[in-house]
Amino acid sequence: MSQEFLPFTRPSIDEATIAGVAEVLRSGWITTGPQAKAFEAALSAHCGGRPVRAYSSGTITMEIALRLAGVGAGDEVITTPLSWVSTANVVLEVGARPVFVDVDPRTRNIDLSLVEVKKNTKAIIPVDLAGLPVDRDKLYSIAKAKNLRVIEDAAQAFGASWKGKPIGSFGDFVSFSFHANKNITTAEGGALVLSSEKDIALAEKLRLQGITRSGEDGMDCDVAGGKANLTDVAARIGLGQLPHLKRFTERRRALAKRYFQLWDRALGCELPVEDFENCNWHMFQVVLPEKRSRGAFIAGMREAGIGVGVHYPAMHLFSLYRSLGWREGQFPHAERIGRSIVTLPLFPAMNDRDVDRVCEAAAKVLK
Ligand SMILES: Cc1ncc(COP(=O)(O)O)c(C=O)c1O
Repeated sequence: MSQEFLPFTRPSIDEATIAGVAEVLRSGWITTGPQAKAFEAALSAHCGGRPVRAYSSGTITMEIALRLAGVGAGDEVITTPLSWVSTANVVLEVGARPVFVDVDPRTRNIDLSLVEVKKNTKAIIPVDLAGLPVDRDKLYSIAKAKNLRVIEDAAQAFGASWKGKPIGSFGDFVSFSFHANKNITTAEGGALVLSSEKDIALAEKLRLQGITRSGEDGMDCDVAGGKANLTDVAARIGLGQLPHLKRFTERRRALAKRYFQLWDRALGCELPVEDFENCNWHMFQVVLPEKRSRGAFIAGMREAGIGVGVHYPAMHLFSLYRSLGWREGQFPHAERIGRSIVTLPLFPAMNDRDVDRVCEAAAKVLK
């Protein structure tokens, strides 16, 4: 009997949320309005009451955070090469230069011991790859000592925590994504946690053309903002997702535990860090042995009815970044991991048997 295709991820949207979205669609107000406000309030509650503003994507959220931090032409921003290319593209978008630092091969996150702060270094963008948080104690001690702004690219880390505190409830700027693959989704969307009330006005203006309204009919524009507001349709999906966060995260943890139990260590793959405290298990990623062809593994798994993702090739080797002077050999860990990393299926609706199936298929393909 042929089995249903198992993708590497799939959102879990319940019927109440679908009905809620239908209600918004019938309400006569579908763009930014009461649902977006309610979503921001719910996110703020999750983030210890800090101010949160919602946007149309995680990418624009980070770009706005960089603008709020005053990052622009002539500035440098430190980040990891092992992330979605959005992380560095936003630095270019504001006219600054991304400066890559290699990753720790164990965590696959930026190796903070390699960070070198120079005269023009203005900020650092750490990325919590797969939802495994970068060491926040080390991060903020460097930021404080070197006077750096931090824009946490926590796109993958919603629901993760650091020593018992939710990611987003402390620190400088924290940027989330609610893209369809994320642990909580709005189909597309993002949110920025602010560290100061004084940034609220500009954070709002930058998402809607720089406009401020006053009185019944007053309108002014004093900054060239863009168009980055989250719709009420999207916000209603997010509001329907949030009550499930704890259950989703617990289910992801249980599935990850099962991977650790069943994965055949003799296959020679590198497994993720076994962190069942902080990590939200956004992804379960293994690094294949270097001599194995990743393409052949993906094709073999697809033949077995299993989807496998690639997150991510080291971005400094993309044409754009090569054209800016980055080259092979500079970040050996990120390059090696970027060539051989695969994302295995992990999402809350998966059952235990699905993990068994992935482990069995991977063993067959790799043997
Ligand atoms: C690490 C990381 N940074 C940034 C982003 C950008 O988020 P979005 O796709 O919502 O623009 C994503 C998600 O796609 C991501 O995984």
